[in-house]
This record gives sequence, C-alpha cells and structure tokens, in this order.
Amino acid sequence: MTILVTGGAGFIGSNFVLDWLAQSDETVVNLDALTYAGNLENLASLDGNPRHVFVKGDICDRALVDATLAQHKPRAIVHFAAESHVDRSIHGPGAFMRTNIDGTFTLLEAARGLWSTLEGEAKASFRFHHVSTDEVYGSLSPTDPAFAETKGFEPNSPYSASKAASDHLVRAWHHTYGLPVVTTNCSNNYGPYHFPEKLIPLMIVNALAGKALPIYGDGQNVRDWLYVRDHASAIRAVLAGGRVGETYNIGGWNEKTNLEIVHTICALLDELKPDPAGSYTRLITYVKDRPGHDRRYAIDARKVERELGWRPAETFDTGIRKTVQWYLDHAGWVANVQSGGYRDWVAKNYGEAAAA
Ligand code: NAD
Ligand code: TYD
Repeated sequence: MTILVTGGAGFIGSNFVLDWLAQSDETVVNLDALTYAGNLENLASLDGNPRHVFVKGDICDRALVDATLAQHKPRAIVHFAAESHVDRSIHGPGAFMRTNIDGTFTLLEAARGLWSTLEGEAKASFRFHHVSTDEVYGSLSPTDPAFAETKGFEPNSPYSASKAASDHLVRAWHHTYGLPVVTTNCSNNYGPYHFPEKLIPLMIVNALAGKALPIYGDGQNVRDWLYVRDHASAIRAVLAGGRVGETYNIGGWNEKTNLEIVHTICALLDELKPDPAGSYTRLITYVKDRPGHDRRYAIDARKVERELGWRPAETFDTGIRKTVQWYLDHAGWVANVQSGGYRDWVAKNYGEAAAA
C-alpha cells in the first residue's frame, strides 16, 4: 500500500514522512515543489530507502498530479503543501492564493478523478486528509473559550484566509461529490527541521549567533504549542479512525505568551551552551508589531481525544528541551539552511533537475 504526501520536504511534512516510515510498512510518495521551505536534507536518512519516492512538482500542475496518482494509486493523500508563513503572506499574498487555494483545488480534482475509478473497499477506504491550521478561526480575547471545531471561521491574515478557503473547498468536495475527506486544524508546531523564519527556531539560531531576538509588539500574544512528532501521531490517528467529513482540532494544551517562549529558550541555552557574554535574555529586542497580529489562539482538542484516544505525548518542557538540544546538535543543518547550502546538497544528491 502507498500514501501520497504533499509538502513532505517541509517542516511538518518531513517529520510526518520520517514518522510514517518508522511506524508502518507502506510506501510514501512525496510530492513537493521544493520552494524555499522545502529541504530534502530533512530526509537525508531515507537516502536509498525504496519506500520513499520523491517527486519534485507543483500541486497546481494538474497533469503532473494526475500522472503521479495514476502511477502510484495511493490509498490516501495527506496534504501538507502550502505557503505557511504569516509574515511572508503580508509581504506577498499571491503565492498563498496560488498554492493554498488553487493548489488544493487542483489536488481535490485529481483525487476525485482517482477515487471515481475505485470500487468497493478501495473506494470506501480512500482518504483525502487535509492539514490545516487553528488560524482559520481568528483571534481570541484572554477570556474566550478555546477554539472548538464548531467555531466559525474568522481568518485575519492572507495566510489564514487562504487556508480557510482551502478548508471550505475540502468540505465542499465531500458534500458535493462524496470525496472521503478528513481535515485537521492544528496549533503552532515546533521541533526538529523547523525553518528559522518562525518564532522558536528563529530565536534559537539568532541567540546562538549573538543576534537580536525580535519580539513583535508587547510579546503578550498567545499561541498553543504542539511538538511536531505529536502532530504526526495525531494525523496517523485521524487518518486511521477519523470519521469521514469531520474536522478534528489538534493542540498541545500549551498556551504560552511569546515572551514566555523566548525566556524559556534563553534559560535552556544558558544551561546547555552558556555564553561568556552573559544570559541570552540580553538579546531580547522589542520591534514593531506585525500588522493585524492575532492576539491569542487556543485549541480545544477534546474531540480527537474522545473519539480517537489521541493526546500529545510531550509537555512543553520536554518538547522545547528536545528542540533546543536538536538545534545545538545540528549546527550543520542550520548553517546550510541559512546559506542556502541545502540547495547545493539537493543538487549533489538528487541531480541538477531536483535543485532547479
Ligand atoms: P513549510 O512551509 O515548512 O513546508 C511547506 C512545504 O510545501 C515545503 O516543502 C514546500 O516546498 C512545499 N510546497 C509549497 N508550495 C508547493 C506547491 N505549490 N506544490 C508542491 N509543494 C509545495 O510548512 P509546514 O510548517 O510544514 O506546514 C505544513 C502544513 O501544515 C501547511 O499546510 C500549514 O498550513 C499547516 N500547519 C502548519 C503549522 C505550523 O505551526 N507550522 C500549524 C498548523 C498547520
Ligand atoms: P510564527 O512562528 O510566525 O507563527 P504564527 O504567526 O503562525 O503563529 O509566530 C508566532 C508568534 O511569534 C506570533 O505571535 C508572532 C511572534 N513572532 C515574534 O514576536 N517575533 C518574530 O520574529 C516572529 C517570527 C514571530
């Protein structure tokens, strides 16, 4: 059996692929365009593994998606591919509309094409698993209840609006055409292979380089943080047992302000790699706020626990310690990402065409 993963060279996708191959004997076909966020070095440990088939391509390319589905006939599609960074969506929303909306539309149509050729058990058990975000629900005040799956959508950034649109498309393809879909809306992930443009990896790599730790606004914005391998296990659980047409919120039960996060990272670095110049907290710098900055996200993850028995394995304390240690142990990965050197690595390992 085979599953198709889109965006499997990105942060969450690569953690999911590694987790999947370790947990099952199925093959993973990994369709990824290798944008700036896609890094095959994340999957270097799979080099030569016949159960990992990498296809470089764009989810907006219908002919390529059709050909990939026809060749591999996956029993499920797990759709991670997206433009995922809010700040980039503010500076250049076009790529978000294209990949997140048009790409999801293209993938849904191609999936519907494959699914319509199936019969019996193969047709009934086929799944399109759409990976989405809690940001579609909008922003909470400090006293609002956490997001439940019934919360209406109120996206505020170009990123979250494009993800909300994709969630609606997935819902419509189920209701109109019967495509067997499940959607998961997850909180902020952190862990290994996180591109250092997002809060946690940026703070770790900047601190280690002696650079400023830029806090937007007053640093009191709240996010719920989930260790990325817990996200992978949640997706496995929903793919295996989630009810068709349903959405499941996935969270870590870890609401933290940004300032708490940065102080925790500084304290861990002070312990694990003390800087003779003094505590890393000296680098904390307040900068201009992000336009339209959502104040608080919080996930009510009781439905996935009630129906599927899933809960995160990591607490924030255990997950953030593992993460900081991972960055300390993988200075080469960080250096390659920062220099763009991973593109050379792709050229070396996968040929010039894959690096284009
Ligand atoms: P990422 O930006 O690290 O990786 C995205 C991957 O998609 C990259 O490998 C990139 O090359 C690929 N990609 C982009 N455009 C493509 C296209 N047109 N065709 C094919 N591949 C393309 O993202 P991530 O943080 O791993 O997020 C994965 C998914 O999870 C996204 O759908 C995101 O919205 C969702 N999500 C992320 C978080 C988070 O905290 N990072 C939280 C909740 C949900
Ligand atoms: P980010 O990692 O970009 O995720 P998202 O915006 O999708 O939640 O940002 C997490 C929080 O950290 C968010 O409130 C913005 C804030 N932030 C900073 O304060 N400084 C930074 O340099 C970055 C990248 C984010």
